[in-house]
Amino acid sequence: MAEGITHMTNQPKRYLITAALPYANGLKHVGHLAGAYLPADIYVRYLRAQRRDVAFICGSDEHGTAIPIQAMKEGTTPRAIIDKYHGLIKQNFADLGISFDIYHRTSEPIHHETSREFFTYLNDRGELIVKESEQYYDEEARTFLADRYIVGTCPVCGNHRAYGDQCENCGTSLSPEQLIDPHSTLSGKPPVKKTTKHWYLPLDKHEDFLREWILKEHKDDWRASVVGQCKSWIDGGLQPRAVTRDLDWGVKVPLPDAEGKVLYVWFDAPIGYISATRQWAIDNGKDWKPYWYDKDTKLVHFIGKDNIVFHCIIFPIMLRLHGNILPDNVPANEFLNLEGDKMSTSRSWKLEMQDFIDDFINKENGGPGMADSLRYYLTTIAPESKDSDFTWKGYQDAYKSGLVDNLGNFVNRTFVLMHKLCKGKVPPLHADTLDELDRTMLAAVGSTKTRVEQLIEQYRFREAQFEVIMLADQANKYMQKKEPWIVARTLDETPANQQLIDNCIHVCLQVTANLAILINPFLPFTAKKMLHMMKVVEKMLDWENAGKTNLLSVGYSLRPPELLFRKLEDSEIRAQVEKLQAASEAKQAASAAASSGTGQNTATPPTAATKPGAATGGPVAAAEPKASIAYDDFAKLDLRVGTIVAAEKVEKADKLLKLGVDLGTEVRTIVSGIAQHFRPEDIVGRQVVVVANLAPRKMRGIESNGMILMAEDKTGRLHFVNPAEPVEPGSGVS
Ligand code: MF3
Ligand code: ZN
Repeated sequence: MAEGITHMTNQPKRYLITAALPYANGLKHVGHLAGAYLPADIYVRYLRAQRRDVAFICGSDEHGTAIPIQAMKEGTTPRAIIDKYHGLIKQNFADLGISFDIYHRTSEPIHHETSREFFTYLNDRGELIVKESEQYYDEEARTFLADRYIVGTCPVCGNHRAYGDQCENCGTSLSPEQLIDPHSTLSGKPPVKKTTKHWYLPLDKHEDFLREWILKEHKDDWRASVVGQCKSWIDGGLQPRAVTRDLDWGVKVPLPDAEGKVLYVWFDAPIGYISATRQWAIDNGKDWKPYWYDKDTKLVHFIGKDNIVFHCIIFPIMLRLHGNILPDNVPANEFLNLEGDKMSTSRSWKLEMQDFIDDFINKENGGPGMADSLRYYLTTIAPESKDSDFTWKGYQDAYKSGLVDNLGNFVNRTFVLMHKLCKGKVPPLHADTLDELDRTMLAAVGSTKTRVEQLIEQYRFREAQFEVIMLADQANKYMQKKEPWIVARTLDETPANQQLIDNCIHVCLQVTANLAILINPFLPFTAKKMLHMMKVVEKMLDWENAGKTNLLSVGYSLRPPELLFRKLEDSEIRAQVEKLQAASEAKQAASAAASSGTGQNTATPPTAATKPGAATGGPVAAAEPKASIAYDDFAKLDLRVGTIVAAEKVEKADKLLKLGVDLGTEVRTIVSGIAQHFRPEDIVGRQVVVVANLAPRKMRGIESNGMILMAEDKTGRLHFVNPAEPVEPGSGVS
């Protein structure tokens, strides 16, 4: 009692819980889920069960260069991209029981308005500085180029498709200056430097505050990895950071002299938490302001470790300057690997939420219980203090040992025995015959509650969930020792033994009710199912009920048992492992064909050399007809329009040019036998038709990944074959 009261007085008035806004540029994988959304959801469900005032905020991050780039890849508009992925991701979260109070969008007018107000507030108070700098510019496309729009050769690994901010092949962070042979992805031309003006947030001015606030005040209650990362940022010397960009996708900078400029995505995205809160308040008839201004609000940001600097350094500086509250904690998670290897979209080494939903939830024999199985496993391997590894074997083992054999088995046995030995009703407790085992079991419920509570409040969800499963484990062992089914055989001789059976089943049922409450934040679908079996209302799940051992009244009749967790077949697991391997092999084969690039030579049809004209070097006749082929054979060709973005002579090969051909998603190296027909500098920027799925071939030590098509006239001269009007690189030809 006394403890409960102290607890109450320490409680903040309200909670504002955020989970990183996912970029709406692609599906999210289970690593994202484990990193931010699932722990946030567990925490929020726990707070709601405590009837605390809480708003759980998330939504799509719809700005930044990631969006138009994805649009280019998919050959569509940025608007279409965000609409598509916003809808898909939102549904994925819902299917997995992530219970946001709002899943908003940074493309909404209320967000643009909120962000502009924020920027103006800081700028009007002189908190931003303006600087001129030289930025890369595409003279043909007449636009400044974000780092992502500049492609060139990686100085570290030689990948020809490295971006101006990063090489995705070797992972090195780059600046456009470091790229060898940089060119614009828009026009294919080398970019030029041009002066531009930007607004900066001088992080360096706030060093003292950050040292005090993070390295002193939060040194002990924030995760060591978070404090450590902040420390190295601060010690490394903070610099002014540009908060505007030359781009036409995003929140327009609200100043007259900022034509063509938008707020940097990392400036506007976290403000998305505020605009989403405003929208949520409008939708629910609440006042949003206390959530962002009242010191008695506890703000917690759930994120992955790649977002630490933004949530612990930059956004807090912004919040402080703007007069808002600061986060109380930022429990960032480490990364989740998959089968021992880093998850990677480019290598197709990933498990998207959508995949799991398709294969385990949205199918016969699936259902929401399977969503809990993923939640369960991800929490058992939560990367709270170090990177961890998702394996299908691990999933299968955890499912079986934790859910089927432990929690599910206990609840099932309890219900079966209650129906068999106690007429389907909650039996009475007979105080006289209660023994030590019964008492210990009942007491375990309260102590588990206390530990789970402490762990959740310290963001240690993995251990918290483990405590609940250990309670079920203890209960299984208790039942095993009591053996009510054996006692039942003695009833003919000793009818009084019914009391022993009653006590055991009574205890098991009260434990079951407690398990439902305690597991609810982690496995909400399972808790619901348990409520149904116990025929009790949702209110029973209130956290304050945990620890009580009179939750189910004596004489109350309960429903027959339903299995909480179905059997998971070996074949299902094998299929997943095979699917993963196959996807990644297919991807590797495709990219090997693309990057190992033996320039298949293009120009002349292979038959030409066998023709008399070719042999003599004289004029060639129009190409001869070839034998007819099946449509299927034609359909095997992957023909695409590409833009030549680089061309150079191949040493000691007077016929060969090494080309870089932009195919929208990548720049291919193709070696082509056209050196005697074209000068390299004349063909950069031209479009060509590419056979994109030709097996790679090495020529003069250079791997060529495809072939370009050329028309050859009677005189043997080559002519470009390309669309009458320029099209998006990567467009299919069929
Ligand atoms: N979109 C970012 C990412 O996926 C996260 C943005 S979090 C926010 O890494 F705070 F900026 F919203
Ligand atoms: Zn590299």
